[in-house]
Amino acid sequence: MAARYLKNQRLPAVRLWQSMMISSENAGGRAISTSSARFQETPNSKVEEAEPVDKPSPKDRTRILVLGGNGFVGTHVCKEALERGLPVMSLSRSGRPRLTESWVNDVIWLRGDLFEADQWKDQLSEVTAVVSCVGGFGSNAQMRRINGDANIAAIDVSAEKGVQRFVYISAADFGLPSFILKGYYEGKRAAEDALRSKFPYSGVILRPGFIHGNRKVGSMTIPLSAIGTPLEFVMKNLKPVTQLPLIGPLLIPPVKVTAVAKAAVRAAVDNAVPPGVVDVWGIMRLGDRT
Ligand SMILES: NC(=O)c1ccc[n+]([C@@H]2O[C@H](COP(=O)([O-])OP(=O)(O)OC[C@H]3O[C@@H](n4cnc5c(N)ncnc54)[C@H](OP(=O)(O)O)[C@@H]3O)[C@@H](O)[C@H]2O)c1
Repeated sequence: MAARYLKNQRLPAVRLWQSMMISSENAGGRAISTSSARFQETPNSKVEEAEPVDKPSPKDRTRILVLGGNGFVGTHVCKEALERGLPVMSLSRSGRPRLTESWVNDVIWLRGDLFEADQWKDQLSEVTAVVSCVGGFGSNAQMRRINGDANIAAIDVSAEKGVQRFVYISAADFGLPSFILKGYYEGKRAAEDALRSKFPYSGVILRPGFIHGNRKVGSMTIPLSAIGTPLEFVMKNLKPVTQLPLIGPLLIPPVKVTAVAKAAVRAAVDNAVPPGVVDVWGIMRLGDRT
């Protein structure tokens, strides 16, 4: 898509050029070829100002920036957006992933850190929607920082730059004792609050439980679906049980990474998806639709 993305940007200019060729040839005036080396003008012809064509502003066309687009969920979000014909950029510290699949060539891979917004925020002027797949584990302080602060920084700068929709991949609450993954959940909820505040009408929070699919770790592929698919099959019809105290939230079903990606892209482009939290069943519903 890198090439397609740039080609799309040039489309109005190409159309303008084509319309000039046709009108000038019909009028017997200058002939302009697409090769700049072959520009000819007859002696008496006047060079006329080109008529402005309806050049859409960058924000008229949907363009998605996937934060963490080279990770497990992020790669599927990029792929899903491309399948929908959308131009896609990804931003992460390491940039282009080491994948050999052909779709990888169609994404614009930017390298940057969410904490250094000055380095990449100008890219947002061309972007209509952001999907953040940035998150991670570590010490409580690290988890608050990456799940919370990093995403809050991205939400702030996206709002400032006029991005229309923002989708944040958060996480379901398994009702674990508060000391387990404390920093992770504090970070997630802080980013959710920032999203509600900065994107009250167009901020969508996806809260999946365990996400399964083929996870690439270095040169290895871990087939998480070997466990995830049967569990999802059994648990997805147990929604009422998840309301039970204590053990209920533990029964939140796993969800396929392709469904999360579909839901994320849908939430990024479709104004009919309301702002606020989408739980795992909502993700399955959005992910089922084409
Ligand atoms: N996987 C699951 O089962 C699951 C379940 C529920 C929720 N989630 C949530 O879903 C999201 C995606 O999860 P995942 O499994 O796809 O994680 P992942 O594979 O570890 O991807 C994380 C991404 O964040 C990027 N990143 C990290 N720090 C960054 C920074 N400072 N600036 C820019 N990019 C940064 C990483 O790329 P670089 O290292 O190149 O920067 C990577 O692309 C996370 O928020 C996670 O909490 C995941």
